[in-house]
Amino acid sequence: MSLALGVLVSGSGSNLQAILDRVRAGSLDADIRVVIANRPDALGLERAREAGIPTACVLHADFPRREDFDRELVRLLRQAGVEWVALAGFMRILTPEFLTPFAGRVVNIHPALLPACAGLHAQRQQAEHGVRLAGCTVHFVDEQMDHGPIVIQAAVPAFADDDEASLGARILDMEHRIYPQALQWIAQGRVRVEGRQVVVDGASRTVAGPHWTNPPLETPFDL
Ligand code: GRF
Repeated sequence: MSLALGVLVSGSGSNLQAILDRVRAGSLDADIRVVIANRPDALGLERAREAGIPTACVLHADFPRREDFDRELVRLLRQAGVEWVALAGFMRILTPEFLTPFAGRVVNIHPALLPACAGLHAQRQQAEHGVRLAGCTVHFVDEQMDHGPIVIQAAVPAFADDDEASLGARILDMEHRIYPQALQWIAQGRVRVEGRQVVVDGASRTVAGPHWTNPPLETPFDL
């Protein structure tokens, strides 16, 4: 089954790029129907255009209430035939106006090992706390920020001389691996949410191989 995917971005869109690259390489069975940004200068829009993907920009400031902004997003996503939504650095909190029509079909990537370091500046939070293991998480989206059931996490080491930038780069590298993998599991129909838990059919819940992800990656580490 090809995943009819919409991607929402606010900034650089490097995770979007990773998704686009994996689709092109054949290790992610997704049809990206539209990329929507809430900022006209989001580099993610440019990346989408270069890949020949339809784009839209919806300025949240144009809408008096969050719900109105969300309703417009839903309209555009539906119009594009989107069934699943991937948030990729999308810096807006979504209301039930959005989450109800796409219930259980919205995922996000967060640059920390949730539930630790939710919220903004997660890379800085981890560097300042002197964590020894940092990481990233793909999770389902619910009405609380960075809160829904966890699909996959990757751990990366954090060193004494790391700062926000160096640690963030190491985390981001793993984000680009785990997000396409999580989406591929969804495309394969292998992902089930059971309360707070996510079951990925056929995937073990161990950390195996050289990459500290749980479940282990099945898609190639490098393109
Ligand atoms: C990533 O660190 C992601 O985890 C967070 O926002 C950042 C987006 O980066 N939610 P990019 O726009 O994908 O480069």
